[in-house]
Amino acid sequence: MAEPFQVLVLNNVSAKGLARLPAERFVAGKDIARPDAVLVRSADMHGMDIPKSVLAIGRAGSGTNNIPVNAMSARGVPVFNAPGANANAVKELVLAGMLMAARNIGGAMCFVVGLDPADPEMEKKVEDGKKTYAGYELAGHTLGVIGLGMIGRLVADMALKMGMNVLGYDPEITVEAAWSLSSKVKKANFVTEVLKHSHFVSLHVPLVEATRHMINAESLTHMKHGAVLLNFSREGVVDEAAVLAALEARKLGSYVCDFPSPKVNGNPHVVALPHLGASTREAEENCATMVADQLRDYLLDGNVVNA
Ligand code: MLT
Repeated sequence: MAEPFQVLVLNNVSAKGLARLPAERFVAGKDIARPDAVLVRSADMHGMDIPKSVLAIGRAGSGTNNIPVNAMSARGVPVFNAPGANANAVKELVLAGMLMAARNIGGAMCFVVGLDPADPEMEKKVEDGKKTYAGYELAGHTLGVIGLGMIGRLVADMALKMGMNVLGYDPEITVEAAWSLSSKVKKANFVTEVLKHSHFVSLHVPLVEATRHMINAESLTHMKHGAVLLNFSREGVVDEAAVLAALEARKLGSYVCDFPSPKVNGNPHVVALPHLGASTREAEENCATMVADQLRDYLLDGNVVNA
């Protein structure tokens, strides 16, 4: 039998995924000197010296912007990813983000942590807290979804179920995606239309040249006063310096993002997370399984799905 394929695993990738590579045909680990394939999650491979022995790369996630895809294509090395495998996890965190902003959860939690149970004024302080952190409900508000790929569509669907109105925008929506989208999602023709009419705006676009800083000082002027911007896509889609200025001017109500950006961290109207969208047990297993299957099928049989 031929020598087993050597798979360099660059991050912690779910064991369920690695188990998809049959032990008699694959050796997978962190110390592989001459890899035939690389399995990566978030490690930035730009600038890495990717050995000439590498025949394929698998990204256990949907975005591939941590991989030099063009350089790999020029070498004939396919890059596999796992679109949709973590969409449900991201969708659920977007819901949490909207609720955190609408119900002032972050501020209210800090307020409670700062209370002294022995304080004789405790009861009065709790009453004050109830007023200070009173919020509003999602139902009846409009959510604008920019990007109607797998995640954007799940977010739109969830918002409809929560009793929200949904306005969606995607210039490149596929026919299949358009069919699967509820007719209750109103379609906008321009990003500005979404910004003007939505109280919440959630971004679900990849980071490419056309989307870099798509939310900037100019576009922010179109948003409703006190609106909430949610960025669970990529940091570069938003000009965060402009967002900070809009928050400070109280034009923008809140910014919820899945990146610990130094530009906005510490602002009381920012909820920033350490890129947790895909960090659930289920999503990690789904992504690792999908991408390991693709690597296996490519290396063993030359089958290409999703590269
Ligand atoms: C993705 O592109 O799907 C996410 O960035 C995945 C991750 O958090 O690793």
